[in-house]
Amino acid sequence: MATTRRPFVGGNWKMNTDLASAVELADDIVAACSHLADRCDIALYPPFPYLQVVGRTLGHHGFLLGAQDVYYQSNGAYTGEVSTDMLLDLNVKVVLVGHSERRHVLGENDELINAKLRAALEAGLQVVLCIGETLEQREAGDTNRVNVSQLMAGLRNVAPEQMGQVAIAYEPVWAIGTGQVASPQDAAAVHRIIRQSIADLYDDGTAEALRIQYGGSVNATNAAELFSEAQIDGGLIGGASLDSAKFKAIVEAAVGAN
Ligand code: PGA
Repeated sequence: MATTRRPFVGGNWKMNTDLASAVELADDIVAACSHLADRCDIALYPPFPYLQVVGRTLGHHGFLLGAQDVYYQSNGAYTGEVSTDMLLDLNVKVVLVGHSERRHVLGENDELINAKLRAALEAGLQVVLCIGETLEQREAGDTNRVNVSQLMAGLRNVAPEQMGQVAIAYEPVWAIGTGQVASPQDAAAVHRIIRQSIADLYDDGTAEALRIQYGGSVNATNAAELFSEAQIDGGLIGGASLDSAKFKAIVEAAVGAN
């Protein structure tokens, strides 16, 4: 079913590539996908050290340069952290916050994620808030509770007028990097709960406009079926975003589903 929401696909490169292969991958993605950029928001999230060169490669081809994380303080003694101003300097437009690897490997909690999200919004960046349940939580029947709780905590003290800068990525932890994708119906069911929660917290218009990506083992083969769900507005892609042909097929699926 067609919606008025513009599709949104992100390529999260995680801690992959090196300087040369990052430039090459960005080049290849520009060549493969720039003709699709007027019908889909396409964000690339390279590792921090390569943001500048990848940003140069993306140039004015209509892509969004993205960062995988950000810190909430604006400057000072925070060894290893990166501020919103530093990202803005490099022309970054969008940041991920609360990615499951940051929650579960690096130990970030909801409070820190909310602080990052609000700092990024205040700096004028777009934010993709990532949420998702673990396998244990799903098997215990806790999927909706966990996702709504991460959503509410992540959006604490976010004003209605800031919601235009926010997208959500629903990424079940058990599906990330495992090859075990959620079924389109299961993903859509969680997206529906997310949208309803936004309607309850804000209003129907905000909920209807909110883009919700699915992430977790999206590939060139399963993308079209996932994106054919009206609730699913695109994807956050890990592994398959490191291959320009696969990434192109996924962006095409998002454009085709709209
Ligand atoms: P994956 O990662 O596509 O490799 O499962 C998705 C993500 O972590 O954003």
